[in-house]
Amino acid sequence: MTSWILALDGPAGAGKSTTAKHLALRLGGLAVDTGALYRAVTLAALRMNLPITCNEALSRLARSLQLRQTMTAEGDVRTLMNGEDVSEAIRSPEVDRWVSQVSACPGVRRAMVELQRSLARQGVPVVILEGRDIGTVVFPDAQLKVFLTALPAERARRRLQDLQKRGIQATLTDVLEELRRRDLLDSSREDSPLTVPHDAVVLDTTDLTLDEQVDGILLLMKERGWKG
Ligand code: DC
Repeated sequence: MTSWILALDGPAGAGKSTTAKHLALRLGGLAVDTGALYRAVTLAALRMNLPITCNEALSRLARSLQLRQTMTAEGDVRTLMNGEDVSEAIRSPEVDRWVSQVSACPGVRRAMVELQRSLARQGVPVVILEGRDIGTVVFPDAQLKVFLTALPAERARRRLQDLQKRGIQATLTDVLEELRRRDLLDSSREDSPLTVPHDAVVLDTTDLTLDEQVDGILLLMKERGWKG
């Protein structure tokens, strides 16, 4: 079965994960968190004390890791690295700090793009992939491309809430600064920078509730022929 592909791109904190999770639950589909894969490569490199420089060692590491994702009954995406569930470990401030450098490396990206395409081939009716280059590089022929965005202050507020839920201390100013730093790195890198695909629908979630976001995307899917 060829799956219907929904490409959900946008900067950190725009609401991609929560939206992907709720859409997957509503539609009986699969959510793929591509940022988590870049985070797993970063975690592996940090654990091995590998210098975070774009070289063959980093690309080889990305190719050698066995990365898988599964979805829980609640719709949460879990990431497994060589059989270990690293879903919490990949959200550490240390990984946050280095992931943009790792994901800017073309050799790493090549390995991850290939992996993402294979993770999407699971014969489910719809696959929702969230990331930065899904609509531009990974699935340029996706049936629907949505670019989620929100004002930086709102994105930082959401990130801070997330961190606090996980017991990580931070201030709004620090989180905002970290988001801006990553936005800049992600959108200025040479290979597959974060950009709005020319054929994407831009959805600003600053003042939207989760239900409004999900319903809005479902409507767009129907307009594009989704019959589920
Ligand atoms: O969505 P996230 O914050 O978990 O993503 C972590 C990093 O990975 C982000 O700084 C940019 C990068 N990334 C990417 O380059 N391409 C993707 N498809 C997804 C994430």
